[in-house]
Amino acid sequence: MTKKVLYIKSSPRGAASVTNKLGGAIIEKIKEKYPDAVVKERDLAADDFPHLDELQIGSWFAPADARSPEQASAVEVSDEAIRDLQEADIYVIGAPFYNFAVPSTLKAYLDHITRPGVTFRYTEEGKPEGLLRNKKAYIATASSGVYTEGPFQAFDHVSPYLKFILGFVGVTDVSFVRAEGLKIEGVKERAFEKGVESIVVA
Ligand SMILES: Cc1cc2nc3c(=O)[nH]c(=O)nc-3n(C[C@H](O)[C@H](O)[C@H](O)COP(=O)(O)O)c2cc1C
Repeated sequence: MTKKVLYIKSSPRGAASVTNKLGGAIIEKIKEKYPDAVVKERDLAADDFPHLDELQIGSWFAPADARSPEQASAVEVSDEAIRDLQEADIYVIGAPFYNFAVPSTLKAYLDHITRPGVTFRYTEEGKPEGLLRNKKAYIATASSGVYTEGPFQAFDHVSPYLKFILGFVGVTDVSFVRAEGLKIEGVKERAFEKGVESIVVA
Protein backbone atom coordinates (compact mmCIF):
# COMPACT_ATOMS: atom_id res chain seq x y z
CA MET A 1 0.00 0.00 0.00
CA THR A 2 1.22 3.47 -0.87
CA LYS A 3 2.45 5.26 2.24
CA LYS A 4 1.12 8.74 2.78
CA VAL A 5 3.49 11.11 4.50
CA LEU A 6 2.52 14.40 6.11
CA TYR A 7 5.48 16.76 6.45
CA ILE A 8 4.99 19.67 8.85
CA LYS A 9 7.72 22.31 8.84
CA SER A 10 7.92 25.06 11.43
CA SER A 11 11.22 26.86 10.90
CA PRO A 12 10.91 30.26 9.21
CA ARG A 13 14.48 29.97 7.86
CA GLY A 14 13.72 28.19 4.59
CA ALA A 15 16.73 26.59 2.91
CA ALA A 16 19.04 27.67 5.77
CA SER A 17 16.97 25.77 8.31
CA VAL A 18 18.57 22.75 9.95
CA THR A 19 15.21 21.18 10.81
CA ASN A 20 14.12 21.61 7.19
CA LYS A 21 17.32 19.87 6.02
CA LEU A 22 16.94 17.13 8.62
CA GLY A 23 13.25 16.71 7.76
CA GLY A 24 14.28 16.47 4.09
CA ALA A 25 16.78 13.74 4.98
CA ILE A 26 14.06 11.82 6.82
CA ILE A 27 11.76 12.12 3.79
CA GLU A 28 14.57 10.82 1.55
CA LYS A 29 15.04 7.77 3.76
CA ILE A 30 11.30 7.14 3.84
CA LYS A 31 11.30 7.25 0.03
CA GLU A 32 14.22 4.80 -0.12
CA LYS A 33 12.15 2.37 1.91
CA TYR A 34 8.79 3.20 0.30
CA PRO A 35 9.59 4.47 -3.24
CA ASP A 36 5.96 5.22 -4.06
CA ALA A 37 5.39 7.24 -0.85
CA VAL A 38 3.32 10.38 -1.40
CA VAL A 39 4.35 13.45 0.60
CA LYS A 40 2.05 16.31 1.53
CA GLU A 41 3.81 19.33 2.97
CA ARG A 42 2.56 22.05 5.26
CA ASP A 43 4.86 24.95 6.05
CA LEU A 44 3.68 26.59 9.26
CA ALA A 45 6.06 29.51 8.75
CA ALA A 46 4.44 30.39 5.42
CA ASP A 47 0.87 29.51 6.34
CA ASP A 48 0.39 29.65 10.07
CA PHE A 49 -2.49 28.73 12.34
CA PRO A 50 -4.30 31.42 14.32
CA HIS A 51 -4.09 31.35 18.10
CA LEU A 52 -7.14 29.69 19.54
CA ASP A 53 -9.83 32.27 20.20
CA GLU A 54 -13.41 32.20 21.40
CA LEU A 55 -14.78 31.69 17.87
CA GLN A 56 -12.48 28.71 17.19
CA ILE A 57 -13.17 26.98 20.48
CA GLY A 58 -16.89 27.74 20.26
CA SER A 59 -16.98 26.22 16.76
CA TRP A 60 -15.58 22.91 18.06
CA PHE A 61 -18.29 22.50 20.67
CA ALA A 62 -21.27 23.71 18.64
CA PRO A 63 -23.19 20.85 16.97
CA ALA A 64 -22.34 20.81 13.23
CA ASP A 65 -25.89 21.69 12.18
CA ALA A 66 -26.12 24.56 14.65
CA ARG A 67 -22.91 26.39 13.75
CA SER A 68 -23.10 30.01 12.66
CA PRO A 69 -21.49 30.78 9.25
CA GLU A 70 -18.49 32.23 11.14
CA GLN A 71 -18.16 29.08 13.26
CA ALA A 72 -18.51 26.84 10.18
CA SER A 73 -15.66 28.69 8.52
CA ALA A 74 -13.54 28.71 11.70
CA VAL A 75 -13.90 24.97 12.35
CA GLU A 76 -12.69 24.19 8.83
CA VAL A 77 -9.16 25.31 9.83
CA SER A 78 -8.97 22.57 12.43
CA ASP A 79 -10.99 20.02 10.42
CA GLU A 80 -8.68 20.30 7.42
CA ALA A 81 -5.53 19.88 9.51
CA ILE A 82 -7.03 16.84 11.25
CA ARG A 83 -8.12 15.30 7.92
CA ASP A 84 -4.49 15.47 6.78
CA LEU A 85 -3.41 13.67 9.96
CA GLN A 86 -6.11 11.02 9.61
CA GLU A 87 -5.19 10.33 5.99
CA ALA A 88 -1.41 10.07 6.49
CA ASP A 89 0.44 6.97 7.71
CA ILE A 90 3.67 8.74 8.59
CA TYR A 91 4.30 12.21 10.02
CA VAL A 92 7.54 14.14 9.76
CA ILE A 93 7.57 17.23 11.97
CA GLY A 94 10.29 19.86 12.01
CA ALA A 95 10.66 21.32 15.49
CA PRO A 96 13.48 23.80 16.19
CA PHE A 97 14.27 24.69 19.81
CA TYR A 98 12.89 28.15 20.44
CA ASN A 99 13.50 29.31 23.98
CA PHE A 100 13.60 25.72 25.21
CA ALA A 101 10.24 24.89 23.63
CA VAL A 102 8.65 24.51 20.19
CA PRO A 103 8.04 27.58 18.00
CA SER A 104 4.66 29.19 18.69
CA THR A 105 3.57 28.34 15.12
CA LEU A 106 3.93 24.65 15.93
CA LYS A 107 2.17 25.11 19.28
CA ALA A 108 -0.74 26.85 17.50
CA TYR A 109 -0.94 23.95 15.03
CA LEU A 110 -0.97 21.40 17.86
CA ASP A 111 -3.70 23.39 19.60
CA HIS A 112 -5.86 23.02 16.49
CA ILE A 113 -5.36 19.29 16.13
CA THR A 114 -5.75 18.28 19.78
CA ARG A 115 -9.51 18.24 19.70
CA PRO A 116 -11.95 16.52 22.06
CA GLY A 117 -14.19 13.99 20.37
CA VAL A 118 -12.11 14.14 17.18
CA THR A 119 -8.47 13.29 17.95
CA PHE A 120 -8.97 12.24 21.59
CA ARG A 121 -11.80 11.37 23.89
CA TYR A 122 -12.36 10.36 27.48
CA THR A 123 -13.60 6.83 28.10
CA GLU A 124 -16.46 6.11 30.50
CA GLU A 125 -13.81 5.48 33.15
CA GLY A 126 -12.47 8.98 32.52
CA LYS A 127 -9.28 7.82 30.81
CA PRO A 128 -8.03 9.80 27.83
CA GLU A 129 -7.88 7.84 24.59
CA GLY A 130 -6.10 9.01 21.44
CA LEU A 131 -8.00 8.56 18.20
CA LEU A 132 -5.18 8.83 15.63
CA ARG A 133 -4.15 5.20 15.42
CA ASN A 134 -1.43 3.21 13.61
CA LYS A 135 0.68 6.25 12.80
CA LYS A 136 4.43 6.71 12.90
CA ALA A 137 6.00 10.10 13.66
CA TYR A 138 9.54 11.35 13.10
CA ILE A 139 10.51 14.62 14.75
CA ALA A 140 13.44 16.61 13.34
CA THR A 141 14.84 18.89 16.05
CA ALA A 142 17.75 21.31 16.02
CA SER A 143 19.32 23.31 18.84
CA SER A 144 22.36 25.39 19.65
CA GLY A 145 22.74 23.49 22.90
CA VAL A 146 22.86 19.82 23.87
CA TYR A 147 19.81 18.40 25.63
CA THR A 148 20.22 14.62 25.46
CA GLU A 149 22.81 14.76 28.26
CA GLY A 150 24.50 17.25 30.54
CA PRO A 151 23.25 20.27 32.52
CA PHE A 152 20.59 21.37 30.01
CA GLN A 153 18.80 18.02 29.84
CA ALA A 154 16.12 19.23 32.26
CA PHE A 155 15.36 22.21 30.01
CA ASP A 156 14.31 20.19 26.97
CA HIS A 157 10.66 21.17 26.71
CA VAL A 158 10.56 20.09 23.07
CA SER A 159 10.89 16.31 23.04
CA PRO A 160 8.93 15.43 26.23
CA TYR A 161 6.11 17.75 25.17
CA LEU A 162 5.91 16.44 21.60
CA LYS A 163 6.12 12.82 22.75
CA PHE A 164 3.34 13.40 25.27
CA ILE A 165 0.96 15.44 23.11
CA LEU A 166 1.33 13.10 20.12
CA GLY A 167 0.73 10.12 22.42
CA PHE A 168 -2.31 11.90 23.84
CA VAL A 169 -3.91 11.97 20.37
CA GLY A 170 -2.90 8.33 19.80
CA VAL A 171 0.47 8.65 18.06
CA THR A 172 2.67 6.55 20.33
CA ASP A 173 5.38 5.54 17.87
CA VAL A 174 7.56 8.65 17.84
CA SER A 175 11.26 8.85 16.85
CA PHE A 176 13.42 11.91 17.47
CA VAL A 177 16.18 12.87 15.06
CA ARG A 178 18.37 15.57 16.56
CA ALA A 179 20.96 18.00 15.31
CA GLU A 180 22.09 19.35 18.68
CA GLY A 181 24.99 21.42 19.89
CA LEU A 182 25.03 23.54 16.71
CA LYS A 183 26.85 26.34 18.58
CA ILE A 184 29.16 24.20 20.70
CA GLU A 185 32.79 23.85 19.61
CA GLY A 186 33.77 20.24 19.22
CA VAL A 187 30.12 19.18 18.84
CA LYS A 188 28.79 21.45 16.10
CA GLU A 189 31.16 20.06 13.46
CA ARG A 190 29.33 16.74 13.30
CA ALA A 191 25.95 17.72 14.80
CA PHE A 192 23.99 17.57 11.55
CA GLU A 193 25.71 14.39 10.28
CA LYS A 194 25.06 12.67 13.60
CA GLY A 195 21.38 13.53 13.24
CA VAL A 196 21.23 12.16 9.70
CA GLU A 197 23.10 9.00 10.72
CA SER A 198 20.56 8.36 13.49
CA ILE A 199 17.60 8.18 11.09
CA VAL A 200 16.11 4.70 11.08
CA VAL A 201 12.99 4.20 8.99
CA ALA A 202 10.95 1.29 10.23
C1 LIG B 1 14.27 32.72 18.55
C2 LIG B 1 15.27 31.62 18.76
C3 LIG B 1 15.27 30.94 19.95
C4 LIG B 1 16.17 29.90 20.16
N1 LIG B 1 16.17 29.24 21.34
C5 LIG B 1 17.02 28.21 21.55
C6 LIG B 1 17.02 27.49 22.76
O1 LIG B 1 16.24 27.71 23.66
N2 LIG B 1 17.92 26.49 22.91
C7 LIG B 1 18.82 26.16 21.94
O2 LIG B 1 19.63 25.24 22.13
N3 LIG B 1 18.83 26.82 20.76
C8 LIG B 1 17.96 27.82 20.55
N4 LIG B 1 17.96 28.50 19.36
C9 LIG B 1 18.83 28.02 18.27
C10 LIG B 1 18.01 27.21 17.28
O3 LIG B 1 17.37 26.11 17.90
C11 LIG B 1 18.88 26.70 16.16
O4 LIG B 1 19.37 27.84 15.45
C12 LIG B 1 18.14 25.80 15.18
O5 LIG B 1 19.01 25.47 14.11
C13 LIG B 1 16.86 26.45 14.67
O6 LIG B 1 16.20 25.58 13.77
P1 LIG B 1 16.19 25.88 12.20
O7 LIG B 1 17.65 25.85 11.77
O8 LIG B 1 15.42 24.77 11.62
O9 LIG B 1 15.56 27.22 11.98
C14 LIG B 1 17.08 29.55 19.14
C15 LIG B 1 17.06 30.24 17.92
C16 LIG B 1 16.17 31.28 17.74
C17 LIG B 1 16.17 32.00 16.43
